[in-house]
Amino acid sequence: MSIEVRPLGVKCNIQCQYCYQNPQRDAGNIAQGYDLEKIKAAVEKEGESFTLFGGEALLVPEADLEKLWSWGLQKYGSNGVQTNGVLINENHIRMFKQYKVHVGISIDGPGELNDVRWVGTIERTRAATASTEKAIERLCQEGIPPSLIITLHRANATADKLPIMYEWFRYLESIGITSARLHILEVENEAIQQKYVLTPEENFTAFLGFAKLEEELTTLKFDVFADMRNLLLVEDNNSTCIWNACDPYTTSAVRGIEGNGQSSNCGRTNKDGIDFIKANQPGFERYLALYYTPQEYGGCKNCRFFLACKGQCPGTSIDGDWRNRTEHCQEWKRLFSYIEAKLIDEGEIPISISSNRQQLEQVFIETWAGGKNTNLYSAYHWLKEKTIKASQN
Ligand SMILES: C[S@@+](CC[C@H](N)C(=O)[O-])C[C@H]1O[C@@H](n2cnc3c(N)ncnc32)[C@H](O)[C@@H]1O
Ligand code: SF4
Ligand code: SF4
Repeated sequence: MSIEVRPLGVKCNIQCQYCYQNPQRDAGNIAQGYDLEKIKAAVEKEGESFTLFGGEALLVPEADLEKLWSWGLQKYGSNGVQTNGVLINENHIRMFKQYKVHVGISIDGPGELNDVRWVGTIERTRAATASTEKAIERLCQEGIPPSLIITLHRANATADKLPIMYEWFRYLESIGITSARLHILEVENEAIQQKYVLTPEENFTAFLGFAKLEEELTTLKFDVFADMRNLLLVEDNNSTCIWNACDPYTTSAVRGIEGNGQSSNCGRTNKDGIDFIKANQPGFERYLALYYTPQEYGGCKNCRFFLACKGQCPGTSIDGDWRNRTEHCQEWKRLFSYIEAKLIDEGEIPISISSNRQQLEQVFIETWAGGKNTNLYSAYHWLKEKTIKASQN
């Protein structure tokens, strides 16, 4: 779970062409100001350490960043920021160290491979990428390596680009990067679809390549592969939100706080340009619907990976409609099959082929129908205890 504070809403210094927040910008829903006291009061209500998010968090003036992070350190012991890294300067680096700010940086590759994260002209775009690359190196030199988010598309993950990406990750590992998250491009409009989207085959090939690269690397990990493996082994206590039956109206993994203190959801599900406020009650209708709906109608019926995948992040649903499963079903299914085969080779019994699978699915269905969520670890152990008790009676 993370508390994401967005003092300036979706306001950003660059214009990534694919950004899922563009519908909100196009609709003119950009925050004009913020109130630090209201933000702090909202954070206190949540009672946990927070990450500054955006848009671009580092557009917040340095004096206000200092106020927020010094308060955050004193109250919760650490801080976070998710940034495109372009604006990071020496004063930011001092604050990151002084106020224990964990830094997440988004960059899609070195040099021209990051061109889709656009800054108006090609010169400005390349200069911005160079600043981000330098910031990554500086943070590593300072002993506070950032974690990275890389979005895959036609400008960085086609067959001709992948070897450059692999080499870049080898370099990143050598300077101290240990954690990277790969995003499949989520498509918001036709123009992006035509220009940047990879085919399911290309996405799969890219992911498979990164999985193989991870085996060669020693300290740098892509969280998605550990997640998928752990899900199949019912060890999913720490898996990321995309696998956890996220309700698009309450997005429990992301508790957003806007500049005026208002609560908000993860922006991934805002398809109409409107930042809806959080609903009071979670609901799991999406997951009940996916379980019962045949795959030809946008559901997941009879998929042996449903317990692990759950139709994936609602922000990536087919046609932007959260009632559907993810538009990246083909890719995830093939990757799960790949990891499933590896686990079988290792002598494990992944949940996808376990004789318990259908019983476990019923536990999820009943839990969701009761308005609650669960995970594989809890459901599996609950079922196991129940079976033991029944055999003793
Ligand atoms: C919206 S940005 C906001 C935070 C900050 N400005 C940054 O760049 O990290 C959050 C993350 O979402 C990713 N992102 C934006 N649009 C996306 C899309 N359509 N598909 C996949 N990832 C996307 C960005 O690359 C970034 O890693
Ligand atoms: S909408 Fe997607 S990215 Fe956002 S919290 Fe839910 S699962 Fe995570
Ligand atoms: S792999 Fe596809 S069909 Fe299976 S659960 Fe995931 S989205 Fe649904």
